[in-house]
Amino acid sequence: MNRIIIASIALALLLSCSQVKNVASSRSLLPLPANIEESKGRFIFNNATTLKIAAEEKDANAVGNFLAASPLALERGEKDSNAVVMTICNDVEGITSPEGYAIETTEENITVKAISGAGLFYAAQTILQLAAEGNGVPAGKITDEPKFAYRGMMLDVSRHFFDKEFVKKQIDAIAHFKMNRLHLHLTDAAGWRIEIKRYPRLTQFAAWRSKPLWKDWWFGDRKYAEEGSPEAHGGYYTQDDIREIVAYAAERYITIIPEIEMPAHSEEVLTAYPELSCTHEPYKQADFCIGNEKTYEFLENVLTEVMELFPSEYIHIGGDEAGKASWPHCPLCQKRMKEERLKDVNELQSYLIHRIEKFVNSKGRQIIGWDEILDGGLAPNATVMSWRGTEGGIAATESGHKAIMTPGGYCYLDSYQDAPHTQPMAFGPYMPIEKVYSYNPIDGLSKKQAELIYGVQGNLWVEYIPTEELVEYMIYPRILAIAEIGWSNPVKRDLGEFKQRAVKAVNELRAKGYNAFDLGNEFGQRKEALTPTEHLAKGKSVTYASTAPFNERYNAGGADALTDGNHGGWTYIDGRWQGFIKDGIDVVIDLGEEKEISSIAADFMQMCIPDVWMPAEVTISVSCDNTNYIELTHIGHKVVRDEGLSFKNYGWEGAAKARYIRYRAKCGPQRGWLFTDEIVVK
Ligand code: ACM
Repeated sequence: MNRIIIASIALALLLSCSQVKNVASSRSLLPLPANIEESKGRFIFNNATTLKIAAEEKDANAVGNFLAASPLALERGEKDSNAVVMTICNDVEGITSPEGYAIETTEENITVKAISGAGLFYAAQTILQLAAEGNGVPAGKITDEPKFAYRGMMLDVSRHFFDKEFVKKQIDAIAHFKMNRLHLHLTDAAGWRIEIKRYPRLTQFAAWRSKPLWKDWWFGDRKYAEEGSPEAHGGYYTQDDIREIVAYAAERYITIIPEIEMPAHSEEVLTAYPELSCTHEPYKQADFCIGNEKTYEFLENVLTEVMELFPSEYIHIGGDEAGKASWPHCPLCQKRMKEERLKDVNELQSYLIHRIEKFVNSKGRQIIGWDEILDGGLAPNATVMSWRGTEGGIAATESGHKAIMTPGGYCYLDSYQDAPHTQPMAFGPYMPIEKVYSYNPIDGLSKKQAELIYGVQGNLWVEYIPTEELVEYMIYPRILAIAEIGWSNPVKRDLGEFKQRAVKAVNELRAKGYNAFDLGNEFGQRKEALTPTEHLAKGKSVTYASTAPFNERYNAGGADALTDGNHGGWTYIDGRWQGFIKDGIDVVIDLGEEKEISSIAADFMQMCIPDVWMPAEVTISVSCDNTNYIELTHIGHKVVRDEGLSFKNYGWEGAAKARYIRYRAKCGPQRGWLFTDEIVVK
């Protein structure tokens, strides 16, 4: 088939779509542009429409090839009429960001001005989004630029490995929504994923494991395997694969940020090269030995090859969740602490991060680390990636460092995006697209601090996400909320309107072969949480036994939370579930006077991954004087580990007359958390 025929088919498809869809409107773009002025008329593409680009060859080729391969199938030409005319200029009115662009559309042509190739590329995405609705592009002006310079997505390719074609497919999608970073979590216990010529055991052995599914492996033998052996599951990118991914991304104005974990999450390295751990034994340690010079030799050699492959200014060096357990007993670590006058293991970790930063800086690059790199003192030029909430990022800006915001409660895409019983297994609690969209990375920050917020990132960890289909399902459409937070002006945010654009984007993604979650058919919030419940105990006082207080972190509003009429939603972190750790629940509700009672009940939830369990025993009793109690029921429940999230109501029904109600719940053998939201008395 020649290109003219392909172009005609693409146009016919676009035109046929126009009969069933709304006519293109600039207000349906995602992310929403900064300024839109629509006027009358439209530019309509036809077989003779061409693309003229005045830009440096590299950018002209990147944008030209991209648009030629797009559904518009634009041929390059020199004419200004019936054309998309793109020009790089020194200045574009109304634009300050190098990634900004201005589009002016008339019935005759579409002219695009930008300061850089990235700006032209983003203008191309805008034109493609408009054209995808059918019937060309509405006349008018769009002047647009991003709010943040860093708009990223992280994909964990260690817990489950995804090949280069899949990575490229995701690059296509996120580029379409004007994201510009893909952070690859390339190394972790579950498998090393990048060929390093100097250390062949990393890919001959540390990239392969005994079980295909992470959860079977992690809760099983946690063994590694020789490449090519029957029990080997995993994979890695060769250096040629990496070059291909990096080049593919660069043509879409995406920088790949490689992450090499240190000093923790390194079981796979320390089994392949046990001399780098404190005990020198395979299968024993997750943390590098910080006292051993060989550790620095290894990390610097690895980073040298990594920096040769990835041109990114930033190299992510991990830094999260070090157990630090072997360091206090290791003679080399202790010697290092003494020599360097390091007062604790946090400072020991910080010593390593400082040294690695110095090395990376000496090659003209910068480091990013997870927010634990703040512990023990932040390295002078480091950028902090804030994941344990926003505090780490904010602390970094307070000391003049840049921060990339990726707080778990808004940006971790491995959490449930809809009612958990309708969803595949997830790691984190309910985090629908509205929750993601509600995040503003600079909320409450001073102007000076806000300027140090480099950007925002959505992270997909894949412990429980073993397939390509599930990866796409978890990413899309929530990454669109991250894309819009990264690009658009927060003042213009309107959730209802965003969701309409996101549903449209989901339909387009699905049509292109992405397994996006069907946002248009969401189940939605737990129905009990939608309206307050009226009942006899609502507004009545609750006394907590001193042996079983609620946990302050999950207080749900305090001592009246269990009788405030409000039920919780699908997650225990929504501020409506009250949490109790270890000693269970023992509360007395005072109804104020004796009442006829026909039922007493409370809901609990179980989600084993974060240690939230059903009670093993519930006892409900009543009293008229708060001294002599009659037991109404004792409910036993065998608590067993399961997957996902479940709810259970523990209650009594019958006939009683009483003023005081005592509700006790005890943990099972797992201990952990109990969460309840309301004790409903009728
Ligand atoms: C992380 O989620 N451990 C960065």
